[in-house]
Formats: sequence, C-alpha cells, structure tokens
Amino acid sequence: MQVFAHFSRLCAFFRGFMKRNIAVLASGNGTNAENIIRYFSSNEYIDVSLVISNRQNAFVLERARALSIPAISYEKDEWSSGKNVLLGLRKYKIDFIVLAGFMIRIPTNILHAYPDKIINIHPSLLPRFGGKGMYGDFVHEAVLAAGEKESGITIHYVNEHYDEGAVIRQIKCPVLSTDTLQTLSQRIHELEYKYYPSVIEELLIGV
Ligand code: GAR
Repeated sequence: MQVFAHFSRLCAFFRGFMKRNIAVLASGNGTNAENIIRYFSSNEYIDVSLVISNRQNAFVLERARALSIPAISYEKDEWSSGKNVLLGLRKYKIDFIVLAGFMIRIPTNILHAYPDKIINIHPSLLPRFGGKGMYGDFVHEAVLAAGEKESGITIHYVNEHYDEGAVIRQIKCPVLSTDTLQTLSQRIHELEYKYYPSVIEELLIGV
C-alpha cells in the first residue's frame, strides 16, 4: 500500500515536470481560444496558462478570465520591441505559443526565443488567400468572390512573414453555390474547433 502511494506521488511529480504550458494569442472574439482552453482543461500534460491580446478590450480576454485563465494585453509599442511580451511569456513559463485569430506580426525576439514553437491557424488553404490584410471574414469574402469550389483551414508554423511558415496540416471543405459569408465562416470555424486542439496535442505529446 505504502509502495503504491510512493509510486503515485512519483508519477504525479513527473507529470508536473513534463507539463507543457501554452499561451494562446488572440485579437478579437476568441471562440477558438475558448475552445482550446476547454479542450485542455483537464489534460494531464498540457496547460493553457496564459491568454494574450494586442487589444485591451478584446472579448477573448473576458472569455479567458471567465474560465480562470490569466489574460493580459500589451500596447502597440510593446509589440514592436517584444521585450515586455517576452517577459510575460517567461513569467508564466510558456513552452509553446498558439495563435488563434491573432492579427499582428510576432516580434523577432519572440520568434528567436521560441523556434518551431509558435503555430497559427489560417481560415483558407494557404498559400491561397493568405498574406497581409487577409484575416477572418476578409478571407471568406475573397474566397466567395473568386468563386472557389473548396476552402478549408491551414495550421502552420509561424515565421517572420505572414502566413508563410511550414504547413503542419490542411483540412478542406466544400464551398457551396448557396454559401454566404456567414455560412462559410461557420463551416470553417467548425473545422477549426474540431482540428486545432488535437493538432496542438499531437505536436506537444504525440498522441
Ligand atoms: C479564425 O477563423 C482564424 O482562423 C482567423 O481568425 C478567426 C478568429 O476567430 N485567423 C486569421 O485570419 C489569421 N490570419 P475567433 O476569434 O472566433 O477564434
């Protein structure tokens, strides 16, 4: 019995030791951020430890706080140097950074501090409909205007260029002739909710 108790304590110690702390970065509504937080809420190995925004009134901050996740925002000039943001990431012992609707470029010092440890989700099949100014509904509008027959999501590593890091996973869906901005956006969000958390989990613990 005593041996078993020791063994359990040892396992708990190593689980704590191995735990990966994620920061989720988002600029607006934050439905993906909330979905990721909920997905990992009772995960043994992955903890969403921090939510960061570049807008102090972003609704994602409220979502995070309602789920008891620390949530902070940094001003525009803090994103140009990246110094304070990096201090925040270090303070919360962040191992891995997940962008979920985050609309500004990641500062170089953070890219260097987290090589191959920053990922993004984009609501189209990159390289189509990517690049500066292509985010959220603008992407879906462009897809509809181009008369595309399919769209989807791309999960990729982040580098210094918008939407150009190595692709990790793409998932396609049809674009219907009856689609509106709302129906297409909804279909893409459903794909994001279904696949983003499990891709993060695979990258971090290989399940
Ligand atoms: C998501 O669709 C995400 O793919 C997109 O912003 C939306 C955020 O929605 N990201 C980009 O366009 C990045 N270029 P949410 O706030 O409801 O999670």
